[in-house]
Amino acid sequence: MGFVIAVDGPAASGKGTIASVLAKDFGYPFLDTGLLYRAVGVRLLDQGGDLDDAKAAQACAQNLDLAELERPDVRTRAAGEAASRVAVHGGVRAALLALQKDFAAQEPGAVLDGRDIGTVITPHAQAKLFVTATPEIRAERRWRQLSGQGEAVTYEDILADIRKRDERDSGRDSAPLAMAPDAVLLDTSEKTIDAAIDAARRIVEAARAKAGL
Ligand code: C5P
Repeated sequence: MGFVIAVDGPAASGKGTIASVLAKDFGYPFLDTGLLYRAVGVRLLDQGGDLDDAKAAQACAQNLDLAELERPDVRTRAAGEAASRVAVHGGVRAALLALQKDFAAQEPGAVLDGRDIGTVITPHAQAKLFVTATPEIRAERRWRQLSGQGEAVTYEDILADIRKRDERDSGRDSAPLAMAPDAVLLDTSEKTIDAAIDAARRIVEAARAKAGL
């Protein structure tokens, strides 16, 4: 088994940026698992389907083409909302499980970010981080990102989205957002992105030393 770095946390906590830098620094392939759920949601909406229709959502997840992860529209606000709605369906999560486990099983290791990586996908991961920040700070970061992409959104709308998404992701029955008992908490509220990355690097270096790497 390779060295797995599992990075979980709520929307816009900084986990994606941190995970991609860790992957580059330590030389592992990286999977942003949120993109899988986003692609399922976008595909279902494209078909004119209903996000609450568990069967239709599951069919989209089963036939997911990984090229769809590259579509720019999976990174929009609407795709994030659709992702969190299809992610509540157990059948969708089951359909995406093998792909994620296979990715994590690569040698010499892998980095995955999401909501249930340390708890469900790779409970055996040698390095687990739970990255978080206050809802207000996350909303500000997401607002800057989406405004930069040209989306016309207000900070207040994004804060409301974030609160709703936290509630849905943490409250669902199937693999809810949760910190694994053996994860290290990294609160980025008061940290610059560089300071957060440094802290994450130190957590991973400690885990690597423990694994004899
Ligand atoms: O991280 P990102 O904002 O791209 O995730 C979009 C949505 O996909 C999340 O709000 C969550 O509902 C879902 N998701 C999930 N499990 C993961 C990754 C994302 O349920 N491992």
